[in-house]
Amino acid sequence: VRASSYADELVKTAVKNNCIPPGRGILAMDESNATCGKRLASIGLENTEANRQAYRTLLVSAPGLGEYISGAILFEETLYQSTTDGKKMVDVLVEQNIVPGLVPLPGSNNESWCQGLDGLSSRTAAYYQQGARFAKWRTVVSIPNGPSALAVKEAAWGLARYAAISQDSGLVPIVEPEILLDGDHGIDRTFEVAQKHGYSGCRKQGQGHPAASSRLHLKLLHRRIPPAVPGIMFLSGGQSEVEATLNLNAMNQSPNPWHVSFSYARALQNTCLKTWGGRPENVKAAQDTLLVRAKANSLAQLGKYTG
Ligand code: 13P
Repeated sequence: VRASSYADELVKTAVKNNCIPPGRGILAMDESNATCGKRLASIGLENTEANRQAYRTLLVSAPGLGEYISGAILFEETLYQSTTDGKKMVDVLVEQNIVPGLVPLPGSNNESWCQGLDGLSSRTAAYYQQGARFAKWRTVVSIPNGPSALAVKEAAWGLARYAAISQDSGLVPIVEPEILLDGDHGIDRTFEVAQKHGYSGCRKQGQGHPAASSRLHLKLLHRRIPPAVPGIMFLSGGQSEVEATLNLNAMNQSPNPWHVSFSYARALQNTCLKTWGGRPENVKAAQDTLLVRAKANSLAQLGKYTG
């Protein structure tokens, strides 16, 4: 933590959000309105504010969610949004003992750059006022397109600037560098790129081989991430729900110096969204499926998932 007037609070947030108690992780529900539109289209719904509100209400108010989820990453619209029964989404999360966080901007893709540093400090200050206590910035490089040294340098620089600005506004920064899965390259190439560039994500090899995947992940983390970093949260990145759980479980089979947990969107929400299908009568069943995935990943965080 940098010198910041929020230093004590930042540590408290990080500990609550990332580390204590064990067996909890993050629900990423920060799909932009455009991405949320794609998810809604997949169940035949229009991308209206009312439909986004109904779906996000279902997620934040799932009874007992806070037992497994310590933080929820929101898209800006949700930070200012109320549930269908008129409560602030942020307040519902806090009542569930879930820390609200925010995604402050779009990430980069392929060989394009992050945008959003301009004016970030005034946005993060406003997000803090609205109740957000952490932030996430995802930046992406891709192997088939490089990654060029320039893309990696820009990504790292953008992440570092964002992290410093967030801390100055009292938001704990989640630094999320991603190497896209796409491409025909194998495990060794992904590891090489991840190690060279200090990236912590290399799920390429994970498909169907959680033990091999976890060995390489841990090797990389031990080489690149200082033990002082409180928590490491993996995204699901297009793995199936069960695969994402198995991979997390494998990584927690032996003690780690960090809290190794999850920050999943698709691997927590896919079945939930399908089960809901936009029908009010399915809300409870959909919430139940969300809880099933949250609990499975909670067990995986403890290394105790048995399928
Ligand atoms: P996916 O789990 O769908 O890759 O998204 C995760 C995410 O956005 C983490 O912050």
